[in-house]
Parts: sequence; C-alpha cells; structure tokens
Amino acid sequence: MSIEKTLILIKPDAIFRKLTGLVLYRLDNAGFEMIAAKTVSVTEELARKHYEALKDKPFFEELVKFIMGKFHNIPRNRILALIYKGENAIQGVREIVGATNPEDAMPHTIRGSLGKISTKGLFENVVHASGNREDAEREIKLWFNPEEIIE
Ligand code: TYD
Repeated sequence: MSIEKTLILIKPDAIFRKLTGLVLYRLDNAGFEMIAAKTVSVTEELARKHYEALKDKPFFEELVKFIMGKFHNIPRNRILALIYKGENAIQGVREIVGATNPEDAMPHTIRGSLGKISTKGLFENVVHASGNREDAEREIKLWFNPEEIIE
C-alpha cells in the first residue's frame, strides 16, 4: 500500500454531455482526495505530448482532435483536469474508470455506464486516468504547475 497521485481528465465527450458532476461524484465517493482541479484549454502541443506513447497508432490523429474537443464543438478546447490522491490511487481510480473500450468496461464503472463508441470507431470513454506510476508522474507535470497542487 502506498499513497499515490493520479491525473484525471474529464474529456470533451463528458463536458459536452454534462457528465462532469456524475464523474466527480463517483471519484469522491471512492474515498480519494481531490488535490488539484482546473479547466484547461487543450492545445495541439499538449494533446500530442499527453498521448505521445500512442503516436504510432492508427487512431492517433483522431485522438488528438478528440481530446482538443474538435468532435464536440467545445469552446476554446476546454476540459477539466484533476489530481486525486490516496492509497493505491492509480489502480483504484482505474478500477472505478473501467476498461478502455466502453463495450468491455463493467457496467458499474464510469466508462461502462457512460462511455460509447463513436461512429468513427474512436472510444468516447469520458475520462482519462493515469495508467501507472511513471505515467502519473509525467502527466501531472505536463498538466499542472507545482503551485496548483494543494497538499
Ligand atoms: P490507452 O492509453 O490505450 O487507454 P486508456 O485511456 O484506458 O489508458 O488509449 C488512450 C485513448 O485512446 C483511450 O482512452 C481511447 C482511445 N482509444 C481508441 O479510441 N481506440 C483504441 O483502440 C484504443 C486502444 C484507444
């Protein structure tokens, strides 16, 4: 057991479909502590850096457009970025979030109950949550300045 921090992004599909409150409700109920939160205007540079490990995937360009809100007409590419902290927070949050493909995600998870597959085949899966410690550290640095994290 260890105290971890993990990055959550409330993605453009969730912003568009007014799911922010539901997602926060579920994360809060799981007992993790929100230690940072802000709206972010997602630039192309930030999107590409965030998903750089997937740059060779066939869906990469669509993914960049998706996280920038291009498929949901989100004004100023605005999404919500959060850091949650707690015991085994990285794995714990991933369990609440569910599998990457909303059709594979368990029904009680965020992605299982709220996610969908777009007509283009991209997974509109509501939230991003860091996958492991290395990713969490990198992603927290990418999305937040240290003074924005209140511990
Ligand atoms: P990935 O990092 O593999 O999954 P996760 O978000 O669960 O850590 O993929 C990043 C995002 O790319 C994923 O949330 C949705 C999208 N994606 C697709 O649209 N199709 C796919 O086949 C995969 C693997 C991912």
